[in-house]
Amino acid sequence: MQHILHVVGARPNFMKAAPVLRALASTTGVRQTLVHTGQHYDSAMSGIFFQQLGMPEPDRNLGVGSGSHAQQTAAIMTAFEPVLLESKPDLVLVYGDVNSTVAAALVCSKLGVRVGHVEAGLRSRDRSMPEEINRLLTDQISNLLFTPSADGDQNLLHEGITREKIHLVGNVMIDTLLRLLPRAIECFPSGVASPYALVTLHRPANVDDLPWLRNLLDTLADFSAQLNIVFPVHPRTRQRLNEIGVAGNGGSRVHLLEPLPYLEFLALQTRASVVITDSGGIQEETTFLGVPCLTVRENTERPITLTHGTNQLVGRDMRRLRETAAEILGRNSTTAGPDPDRVPLWDGHAAERIAAVVLQERSEAAKPQPL
Ligand code: UD1
Repeated sequence: MQHILHVVGARPNFMKAAPVLRALASTTGVRQTLVHTGQHYDSAMSGIFFQQLGMPEPDRNLGVGSGSHAQQTAAIMTAFEPVLLESKPDLVLVYGDVNSTVAAALVCSKLGVRVGHVEAGLRSRDRSMPEEINRLLTDQISNLLFTPSADGDQNLLHEGITREKIHLVGNVMIDTLLRLLPRAIECFPSGVASPYALVTLHRPANVDDLPWLRNLLDTLADFSAQLNIVFPVHPRTRQRLNEIGVAGNGGSRVHLLEPLPYLEFLALQTRASVVITDSGGIQEETTFLGVPCLTVRENTERPITLTHGTNQLVGRDMRRLRETAAEILGRNSTTAGPDPDRVPLWDGHAAERIAAVVLQERSEAAKPQPL
């Protein structure tokens, strides 16, 4: 029996792990353990996602919670090490680029346990982002690298990673999106009137710089003269908004909501006139859905969303944000709609490809070794 241990910790991990857990559950001879680090712990950031995604309850919750990067990373490592020693998996799968990802991968590599990184190879080339450091380090110490797009393979090869470790499998988050889109459409939140722009902001570079956050909100308030602004607020952003004295409403038609569950948020993306975000995953989801996306960052680790998709970088240029958004609204055309052929391998079968590689590992290991 092959034993696979999955580590998840933060909201964007859950929709990536869910299809891999399902794909491996439908194979024989695999035992799975799910460890939640507790990096995200609010029900709105974690529990509701497990329910909606149909994920099993975690076998272990390390309960690490929030803290500085060093505190959080160290707490995950310290709590995960005994769990790993006790459960002795054949392979650990880690997801994405959050602190839980690199912390778990480091523990594995020091104990000689094989690690697979799902969503490997993405690079923004901006080392001021904590996620970029997490990606670089995780990829260097992983044994199996599952990339969502061919640019990821190129990045890894340039960093000296051998071809044999790299597996271009496609985008697991799109597996989840495709599976749940029909249900999501039935979960459209009541009280949201079209046309609207959907906004999410949570990157430290945008929300921890308070004068800049004020500037962003003022731009959104101006923009709300043209359409409603629907803004589900991440807990980090909520704290910062409190600090600058913005509560309930960020301007007459800027509607600040609590963080939304997966299905409700996906439903909102499908009907948005435009999405304004600094998230990584939302750049990909809007590309798949054919909904215009403006990313409030200078760079992206997901360049395929620029070349094949609907994403545009507006950086810190608020004039560009206003003008591009106005241009999108002026087009007066409906959005392109979901398309499994828009990006190669973003077709709903990425997790099955990962499962096939994982099972292949088992048969390689079972072969008699040369003397
Ligand atoms: C983390 C990831 C980021 C990802 C994001 C998605 C890292 C370095 N960052 O950022 O890549 O895009 O998750 O959400 O791993 N908080 C709560 N409840 C929670 C979780 C957090 O209130 O359930 C608050 C805490 O005050 C905490 C703050 O949000 O200090 C930030 O949480 P943290 O896990 O440090 O990073 P995120 O900003 O969520």
